Amino acid sequence: FVRGDIADAEVVTPLVEKADYVVNFAAETHVDRSIEDQSKLIRANIEGPLTLLNAARKHPVKRFIQVGTDEVYGEVMGDPVTEEAPLHPRNPYSAAKVGGDAMAMAYHATFGLPVVVTRCSNNYGPYQYPEKMIPLFTTNAMVDKSLPVYGSGKNQRDWIHVADHCRALDAILAADADQVDGEIFNIGAGNEKDVLQIADIILSTLDKPKSLLEHVTDRLGHDRRYALSPAKIKERLGFVPEIEFEDGLPQTIHWYVENKDWWERIKSGEFLKYYDQMYGKR
Ligand code: TYD
Repeated sequence: FVRGDIADAEVVTPLVEKADYVVNFAAETHVDRSIEDQSKLIRANIEGPLTLLNAARKHPVKRFIQVGTDEVYGEVMGDPVTEEAPLHPRNPYSAAKVGGDAMAMAYHATFGLPVVVTRCSNNYGPYQYPEKMIPLFTTNAMVDKSLPVYGSGKNQRDWIHVADHCRALDAILAADADQVDGEIFNIGAGNEKDVLQIADIILSTLDKPKSLLEHVTDRLGHDRRYALSPAKIKERLGFVPEIEFEDGLPQTIHWYVENKDWWERIKSGEFLKYYDQMYGKR
């Protein structure tokens, strides 16, 4: 493990030299933070991939996966979208992610790098930073703190367990070049749930009252729904997710119950300042 800035060529280049594969998970990932402060977005989400791609030009790798997001398609109110759908990012985070995806695809076309771009739906699972909805609501409920539901709570996301996401990436790493290089793959599990449905499961699993739900001011530009079609990765690589949401979500909630030390450390200090700014002191 090397802790460093992916946009720093001096850190990245010697590491890529020693690598067979690059899978770039690193990003400024949180929509709410991107609405408050845009200063790190371009460096992390565009210059980062660019620096890694340049390192991979210098020291060729077998495959380079740029991990992306379904948010680049924007709000989807009709049928789940395929990889061919136009991009309509609607918040600063997803706009910056479009730049990273595009740079990676450009390095395939221009320099012939073995690049694959993936676009995954919302992840959940252990070790998710507690700014995200599922760990935030779970850890708040555990200490009888309110669950801040933005607006109506009817916004829908398609949820996939992080282990299934990683299995999909593994399948891409193992595939033949002619099946994947220069391609975009959606990754999703078809578990469409709205915020209130998930909050209900969290409260009932933890045996906490519904009075902990608190409707707060909506997120600016809050996308009502993301929905993508994972047909291409299923047809081409035979990938299907293994973890049912009905099992994965309670398991994840229990993981946070059993790993209080991990998230309590994160939710003190710097996080408290962020929380107060975002949600007000409560
Ligand atoms: P989030 O975990 O931030 O992921 P994303 O915005 O990338 O989909 O949010 C998931 C959903 O939960 C989204 O509709 C916003 C909503 N949400 C709340 O209602 N309250 C919160 O405090 C947070 C963080 C999210």
